[in-house]
Amino acid sequence: MNKIALYCRPGFEKECAAEIADRSTRLGIYGFPRVKDGCGYVIFECYQHDDAERLIRELPFTSLIFARQMLVVGDLLKDLPPEDRVSPIVGMIQGVVERAGELRVEVPDTNEGKELLKFCRKLTVPLRQALRDAGVMLNRESHQRPVVHVFFIASGCCYVGYSYSNNNSPFFMGIPRLKFPAEAPSRSTLKLEEAFHIFIAADEWEERLASGMRAVDLGASPGGWTYQLVQRSMMIEAVDNGPMAQSLMDTGQVTHRKEDGFHFQPTHVTTNYWVVCDMVEKPWRVAMLMADWLINGWCREAIFNLKLPMKKRYEEVSQCLEGIDKRLKEHGISAQIQARQLYHDREEVTVHVRRMWSAIPGRRDERERR
Ligand SMILES: C[S@@+](CC[C@H](N)C(=O)[O-])C[C@H]1O[C@@H](n2cnc3c(N)ncnc32)[C@H](O)[C@@H]1O
Repeated sequence: MNKIALYCRPGFEKECAAEIADRSTRLGIYGFPRVKDGCGYVIFECYQHDDAERLIRELPFTSLIFARQMLVVGDLLKDLPPEDRVSPIVGMIQGVVERAGELRVEVPDTNEGKELLKFCRKLTVPLRQALRDAGVMLNRESHQRPVVHVFFIASGCCYVGYSYSNNNSPFFMGIPRLKFPAEAPSRSTLKLEEAFHIFIAADEWEERLASGMRAVDLGASPGGWTYQLVQRSMMIEAVDNGPMAQSLMDTGQVTHRKEDGFHFQPTHVTTNYWVVCDMVEKPWRVAMLMADWLINGWCREAIFNLKLPMKKRYEEVSQCLEGIDKRLKEHGISAQIQARQLYHDREEVTVHVRRMWSAIPGRRDERERR
């Protein structure tokens, strides 16, 4: 198998392709992406046979921005016979993967894809049994073993492949299923909730999304993101000229600041932990504002949206991330920077930056605090 399949948001295939071409080249792996607008995935064909396997081992999945899932696949299986779709699929993966722990029969996140989901669910049980009988899968589910993916792009037509559970998305179709909380003031609340799930390890929530922490929400109205911080029992300064939902104000945890987010300074400069920002502005301007906050020590972690331009979106995001990295390094600040086009993001990506420590004496940092 010498191809990589990457699932992405429909309409962002070019960005996903530009990213995988760029990232694989940097690893010395060469190939070419096949892109079809609106299909919801990219196939990247490596020139060397073993390079697809190398790519999914060496390229950290969490470092990709536009891919929702990354797996090795073989050639497209076409015209699967309706009387026995299972055997050709088993034949494709047998000898390639052994003792896999999970099977996902998936589709692209498109309207055509969704029409195939019912069929996929029906196929899963007999296919899983056949894969177990063939030794491709363990008899019990395991989240520590490779995942077998069967990716139906049309009726009777699928890619078969695998991903590694330590370097993939743990979610079916690469999409976390979150339920919209009825009492949240806007649907964009799901963006920040998803960002927490994607960027912050579950076992660190108690420490990094802790009760009583101080946070600032820039561009907060009507309060979808503030709602998430309130749910974590934080104390929030919500910055926006627009109104905040009364239900949030009634909690007593929110102070509404009717100010310009580009000039606002946190009231509790030394103890503010989070800044989140959803202001609709030029991406570079937001990126530099967030860099300022981290450099000034006004927050330890930041989550913010970059609204993407119509063209050269991968290049634009890359420039913003490089710009933040450069400025933090100039100030001796070590940081972890991650970005992802979340499922709940539209023409935008979400970025997370965590300040780890600062080399500049006098700056509060992780080592001094211990
Ligand atoms: C996409 S909405 C935010 C939605 C919010 N995150 C939520 O979940 O409900 C963008 C907000 O940014 C605010 N905004 C834009 N520019 C701003 C600025 N310079 N200062 C403060 N707020 C700004 C707008 O008033 C608008 O309410």
